[in-house]
Amino acid sequence: MTDSTQLCDIGFVGAGVMGKNLILNLADHGYRVAAFDLDHKKLESVITQDLQENNGQARVVACSSYTELLSKLKQPHLVILSVPAGRPVDDVCSKLIDAGIEADDIVVDTGNSLWTDTVRREKFYEGKFIFFSTAVSGGEVGARFGPSLMPSGDPYAWTRIEPVWRAIAAKVDPETGRAIERYEPGNPVIHGEPCATYIGPSGSGHYVKMVHNGIEYADMQLICEVYQVMRDALGMSASQISAVFKEWNQGILNSYLMEISAEVLATRDSETGLPLVDVILDKAGQKGTGLWTAVSSLELGCPAPTIAEAVYARSISTLKEQRVSASTLLAGPVQDKPDEAKRLQVIKQLHDALYCAKICVYAQGFDLMKTAAVEHGWQLNFAEIAKIWRAGCIIRAVFLQSITDAYERNDELANLLIDPFFAKQISLNQMNWRRAVADATLTGIPVSALSSALSYYDSYRTAVLPANLLQGQRDYFGAHTFERTDKAKGKFFHVEWSETDRPMTKIK
Ligand code: 6PG
Repeated sequence: MTDSTQLCDIGFVGAGVMGKNLILNLADHGYRVAAFDLDHKKLESVITQDLQENNGQARVVACSSYTELLSKLKQPHLVILSVPAGRPVDDVCSKLIDAGIEADDIVVDTGNSLWTDTVRREKFYEGKFIFFSTAVSGGEVGARFGPSLMPSGDPYAWTRIEPVWRAIAAKVDPETGRAIERYEPGNPVIHGEPCATYIGPSGSGHYVKMVHNGIEYADMQLICEVYQVMRDALGMSASQISAVFKEWNQGILNSYLMEISAEVLATRDSETGLPLVDVILDKAGQKGTGLWTAVSSLELGCPAPTIAEAVYARSISTLKEQRVSASTLLAGPVQDKPDEAKRLQVIKQLHDALYCAKICVYAQGFDLMKTAAVEHGWQLNFAEIAKIWRAGCIIRAVFLQSITDAYERNDELANLLIDPFFAKQISLNQMNWRRAVADATLTGIPVSALSSALSYYDSYRTAVLPANLLQGQRDYFGAHTFERTDKAKGKFFHVEWSETDRPMTKIK
C-alpha cells in the first residue's frame, strides 16, 4: 500500500462516468488523486477499479468531505470538477469556499458548461480562488485513454494545468496526423502531439466545445439521413448498410462517428435476435449544446443552417405519435424499387453527398468560431483547434488534418469553402451530392441536413441572392429602406411605393 499521509497532486470532485475515467487516466500518468463524490458508491467504484488496475497499489484516495479533500492536497490546491453543467458547478464551488479554498488555488470545470456561465464564474470567484475551465470531448473512452481538451481562462492557471492536460490528452502521430490509439489501463500513450491547446480568454474554450458539439450533431444527422435513404429507398438491411459504412471508413469519410455507426448497425439485440438499431425507438434526445450552437449562430447572424437543421431533426423525431398518425394520412410519392445498378449508383452518390455536406458543416462551425472571436475579442488559432480535434474527441476524423492544413496555409481564411483544397473537393463531388438530394426528395425521404448544406454551398457561391426583392418588400410595408447597387455603400433610400411617380428619398 502507498503511504496514506502522502499529499495528492490533484483533487477531483465528481466520480460519475466521465469523472471516474478522468481520475483513472490521471492516475495512469503518475498523478496521485484525492477524490470526492456525494455518492459513496461512485467513489468506491473508482477506488476498486484503481486497485484492480494497479496491482492493489492505490493511486486514488477517497475523501468523505470537501474539507478532507483540500487537506489531502499539495498547495496551492488544484481541484478538477466533473459535475453536471449548470447549478451543480456553483454548488461545488461554494462548498469549496466553505471548506477553506484559497485565492491562489485553482478550480477547473470540465463539464459541458454554457460558455457565458464560465465567463460569469471566472469574475464571480475572483479573489476566492482561480476559476478555470477545460471543455472535454471524447465520451467515457476518451476520458479514460485520451480526450481532446479545450482549456481557456486565466493564463497563470494554464501554466499549472498544462503539463497535466498534455499528459492525459489523446495523442496524434505528427507524421500521419492520425490518432495513436491504445486502450490499455496502466500503459498510456506518452508520445505524439497532445490534443490539448490553450484556446484563449475565459469562456472561449467552452464556446469552441459548444461548436464542436454543433458539428457533432450535424455530422451525426448527415450519417443518419444517408442510413435512412439506404434503408427506405434502397431496401438495405442494417448489416448491409454497416458493411458500406465500414468500407467508407477506410477512405476520405474515415471518422469515429462513421466507425461507431457501422458498429451500431452491425449489433444484434440479444433479446429478439434482430438488428439492435431496428428495435431502438426513433426519438432522439439532446442535452442542449447543439441548441446553444444554433442560437449563437442566429444571435451573431452567422449562418450555420445544417447545425440548426440537425437540432430540428431531433425535435421532429420526438413527435413520434403524430408522425405515426400522419404517415397514414399524408401522401408521399410512389417510387419503384431500384434495380442493382441504380442501387450502386445511389450508394456512390450518397458517399459523395456525405463528404461535401460534411465540408459545409465544418465550414459553418469554423465560420461561427471566427465570428464569435471577432465579437468577443478572442484570438482563436483555427489550425490548432482543428489539430486538437484530430484525436480523442467525438468528431475526430482524418479530414481534420486537411482543415489543419487549410488554416496553416491561411489563418485568415474567410470560409473553409474557399480554401483551394476544399473548393476542389466540392467541385469534383458536387454532382453526386445534388443527385443524392434530388433522388431522396423525389422518393419522399427527408434529408434536411444534406439539403441544407447544399443550399448553404449554393447561397455562399451566389453573387446575387434574392435579398434585393426582400429589401423591396421590407421597404414597401415598413419603410425599412435599402441600399442601391449603383450608389455608395451605407447610403439608404426609401421609395413611396404607392405613389405613381414613386419618388425616392435618401434617408442617410
Ligand atoms: C463529447 C460529446 C459529449 C456528449 C454531448 C452530446 O464531445 O464528448 O459531445 O459532450 O455526448 O453532451 O450530448 P447530446 O447528444 O445528449 O446533446
